[in-house]
Amino acid sequence: MEGMVLKLPSFHSQFQFQLMNPNRCISCFSSTLRASSSPLLRFGNPRFSSPLSVSASASTAKETDSLHLNSLSLGHTTRPDFPILHQEINGSKLVYLDNAATSQKPISVLNALQNYYEAYNSNVHRGIHSLSAKATDEYERARKKVASFINAGDAKEIIFTRNATEAINLVAYSWGLANLKSEDEIILTVAEHHSAIVPWQLVAERTGAVLKFVSLGEHDVPNLKDFKEMFSTKTKLVVTHHVSNVLASVLPIEEIVGLAHRFGAKVLVDACQSVPHMVVNVQALDADFLVASSHKMCGPTGIGFLYGKIDLLSAMPPFLGGGEMISDVFLDHSTFAQPPSRFEAGTPAIGEAIGLGAAIDYLSGIGMTKIHSYEEELANYLYENLRAVPNIRIYGPAPTAHVQRAALCSFNIGDIHPTDIATFLDQQHGVAIRSGHHCAQPLHRALGVNSSARVSLYFYNTKEDVDYFIQALNDTVSFFDSFK
Ligand SMILES: Cc1ncc(COP(=O)(O)O)c(C=O)c1O
Repeated sequence: MEGMVLKLPSFHSQFQFQLMNPNRCISCFSSTLRASSSPLLRFGNPRFSSPLSVSASASTAKETDSLHLNSLSLGHTTRPDFPILHQEINGSKLVYLDNAATSQKPISVLNALQNYYEAYNSNVHRGIHSLSAKATDEYERARKKVASFINAGDAKEIIFTRNATEAINLVAYSWGLANLKSEDEIILTVAEHHSAIVPWQLVAERTGAVLKFVSLGEHDVPNLKDFKEMFSTKTKLVVTHHVSNVLASVLPIEEIVGLAHRFGAKVLVDACQSVPHMVVNVQALDADFLVASSHKMCGPTGIGFLYGKIDLLSAMPPFLGGGEMISDVFLDHSTFAQPPSRFEAGTPAIGEAIGLGAAIDYLSGIGMTKIHSYEEELANYLYENLRAVPNIRIYGPAPTAHVQRAALCSFNIGDIHPTDIATFLDQQHGVAIRSGHHCAQPLHRALGVNSSARVSLYFYNTKEDVDYFIQALNDTVSFFDSFK
């Protein structure tokens, strides 16, 4: 069926849809898809041409009035805080299920951003005037909120970066270049996000260090036995995800850290998919470095953070040079500030840091334990309903009493291309999911495919969202099966 151009019946008659095979590389067809999807958006059935409309207050009020608060799930009670969720997409109500890519933002975060720009926009750490003092206080307060959210011992252990990717690059270029030498080994898993692989490839090229990858074991999860066998006195660093953005699996970080420390190796934890969803305690994990991104945890884009143990950060050279990261500058050399300033060259993302602080207030107000247990319920509900879809392959472990899964599923159905699934769900049903390799090409290769569809939930989603998605997915599959 690959490459076949079909004329769709009824409302689809205005456009052509090219079916794709999941084993074809995503980058090979993205231009085809763009070309074929634009008529789909513009012509024919009015469902495809209705403009986006935000009617948050009206629909929110109606939703809240019509239900008894006691019987409402966390998803129902928090949805009103997210204006973006209350709109129509392509003539259907929006069902946003792409939370592993980025989360939506509650009103309190939007207000914090607006308030910063309206009331005290100013540069930090350099002005003596009142606005600058207020901006500096709020920026530093945000740092303290992050520290306390992940139970860091000291706010100085939190470095603000643009995102998790930059945080990993900071460790790679600062700690990595200063500490790695030829034949030193870095252990990673094949399930890492590209952000956690590529910086280390670049640093390995410059230092001669060697990357060793833990492969997938039972249930598509990185094999802990492999981890154990890979350690040696050459191991200097482990780079590992906490929760996989594709497999939904959760790795036993404490155990991995314990092993690594026995060999004198450091551990960098990519906590992008765990910090937004569960209690993460860096002291309990004993992680040396940990990174996360604000935009996946209800905060703004443009800000993320690196946690590093203070003795490690204090011994690390600067990553970027410029204003604010110095102690003294002479014409021939400079001396550097202590962390965190040493690693925050130039004007930082002030409003965004403050917005992240507001997101942490919001999440803490609900409680991460509550968020996690609700998401566990959603995760099981999603998995159980999804696995009933004929010909589906869901990647990662099945949830059991002993195996925890995050509230996301990556999957393929027969030979229907995941991008076709995602496009149809969006255009026909207003359901937003992701398709592609999810920045995890080595993992997809290990799974034997080039791409997958991924549905990912957050605490503002409900079981009704899952029901709607499953119904829409079955409709999508019937549609594509009708051409066989
Ligand atoms: C597991 C994981 N690591 C790293 C990243 C990179 O995050 P960012 O793009 O915000 O730097 C992501 C984002 O999708 C992720 O899911």
